[in-house]
Amino acid sequence: MRVGTTATRQISRRDLLANSARAALVAAGSVLPGSLSLGCGDHSGRPQLPALAPETPSKGVSGSASLRARAAAKGLLTGFAVVPSLLRNEPIYAATVREQASILVAENAMKWEALRPSETTYNFDDADALLNFAEQNHIKLRGHNLLWHRGIPRWFIATATPVNARKLLESHIETVAGRYAGRIHSWDVVNEAIQVSDGRPDGLRDSPWLRLVGGDFVEVAFKAARRADPQALLTYNDYGIEAESSPDEAKRQAILLMLRRMRARRIPIDAVGIQSHLTASGPRYGAGLIRFIASARELDLQVFLTEMDVNDRAVAAPIAQRDAAVATTYAEYLDPVLADPAVTTVLFWGVSDRDTWLNHEDSRPDRKPERPLLFDPSFKPTQSFFAVRDAFDRRAIVHGK
Ligand code: G3I
Repeated sequence: MRVGTTATRQISRRDLLANSARAALVAAGSVLPGSLSLGCGDHSGRPQLPALAPETPSKGVSGSASLRARAAAKGLLTGFAVVPSLLRNEPIYAATVREQASILVAENAMKWEALRPSETTYNFDDADALLNFAEQNHIKLRGHNLLWHRGIPRWFIATATPVNARKLLESHIETVAGRYAGRIHSWDVVNEAIQVSDGRPDGLRDSPWLRLVGGDFVEVAFKAARRADPQALLTYNDYGIEAESSPDEAKRQAILLMLRRMRARRIPIDAVGIQSHLTASGPRYGAGLIRFIASARELDLQVFLTEMDVNDRAVAAPIAQRDAAVATTYAEYLDPVLADPAVTTVLFWGVSDRDTWLNHEDSRPDRKPERPLLFDPSFKPTQSFFAVRDAFDRRAIVHGK
């Protein structure tokens, strides 16, 4: 794909501070962030029943005020990682997704462990249901993922050998990507394959794929994906490349090395996914990430923000300050990133704070529920919703993919 050369506008620190100040006022209740009509939460993280009929669109954030509309105006797709059982069983969850998203991704339903109960069987029920939901609602769907060092089924570890692993991998990719060929926006073909601290010159993580398939497993996976679905945008997706820190810079360089080698060897790839699991305190985001995105653009790759959320586990403060810190982190991260025309897609890792993975794997030391997403447990838009929507509005680019 070729990205445009549209002029971009730098966002000043003053704009950001003004935005943060507004966010703090909203948090303090001095400013109304729009009409929040989907019920009220008690900040406990417990599921709340919506106050209005579940299908009622949220006033002030629907139609032309929705995230998807504001994103579309700036050439962006936006949406969430979703869970098929919640789409099926919770009308307010499904209504929020329909109203706000132009693209979705399965949080777990398309991983090996979800699709492959055994070597000889596949379970496509949830994945099929998700694609049907997306298509019925004219929402695009990303596939996540075809290869990852986590979530590998036990039978695979018990069965795979250096002799049969390549065939098992190719056959999985051909079956899964082939089943949905022509209907998927993009596939995370390889997820999280770089781990600099494992000490290899090529930066590859020491994983079952490396040990069983060999050093060319990335090439094997991308070629199989292209054969299976020539239309999907093939993506390399990773985390730990966002911050201004030496480990993140080393990982950025290792990924760029891999991407350049892939280009030189004509291995099919169309996009790089920057997961963007952010932290509301700690290392900041900035020049290194912006250089990385520009380098991806120079390789003619699109850039997707694939798994955005902001954890605030190091912010020991009242909820209003935590929310302001999370919203400010979104704004400060998105403004410079969205200034690059290679960035075409922004996905959040979950819809509501109630369902975030952060309450399980990386929870707060005080065990209070995290508040990392754009909707609170009762599906009211959070301060972060408005910070993100404002950041979309500030993007100077008005066309794109
Ligand atoms: O499906 C079982 C369910 O049957 C069982 O009752 C339950 C008991 O705990 O476990 C369920 O599986 C869990 C699954 O989430 C669904 O909730 C798995 O144990 C758990 O490991 C799995 O965690 C997911 C994790 O990836 C590992 O696959 C998280 O939800 C998901 O948010 C997380 O997502 C990853 C991305 O794929 C890659 N980037 C990082 C991101 C966060 O770790």
